[in-house]
Amino acid sequence: MPLPPPRRPGHYRVTLVCLGNICRSPMAHVVLEQRLADAGLHGRVSVSSSGTGDWHVGEPMDDRAAATLDQAGYDPTRHRARQYDETEAASYDLVLAMDSANLADVGGRSERVRLYRDFDPVEPGADVPDPWYGGSDGFDTVLELVERTSEALVTELSGLSGLSGQSERSAP
Ligand code: 4NP
Repeated sequence: MPLPPPRRPGHYRVTLVCLGNICRSPMAHVVLEQRLADAGLHGRVSVSSSGTGDWHVGEPMDDRAAATLDQAGYDPTRHRARQYDETEAASYDLVLAMDSANLADVGGRSERVRLYRDFDPVEPGADVPDPWYGGSDGFDTVLELVERTSEALVTELSGLSGLSGQSERSAP
């Protein structure tokens, strides 16, 4: 399914939602921002993240999530957890839930509300498994999933008209 058009021409707002906003959506947030910067889309696409639960509001990322990102060369230090606010669905161009429970918690699927892994080229429509209760392997898996899915998402965003990082030239 194609991406919904920007609500405001020239800028696109994406938000990523998980349960606690200290593991999955923050990891996806940091990786997606890096990929957007690499593609020259940093100023044209903004990213945020939140959790449906309020337990960790104001806290930095989970230490295991931060260590996994850090080892892979990303900066995990700027994140602070936020709680999802139901008015957000009306202000973002795209709300991406990390798993099907998160999708249900934000009101279910619609044109602008989807699963993050709908964009996964390998296993589209799958959940990003919650790594919170497991060992560090779970965080490595999350990183692998978010790296490949972010790349595919940036490719889609690059194709949206009016968002390209390249300047348009008129013919001489
Ligand atoms: P996240 O992981 O949704 O990927 O941030 C979790 C973090 C905290 C909790 C559950 C999942 N918790 O129950 O506090």
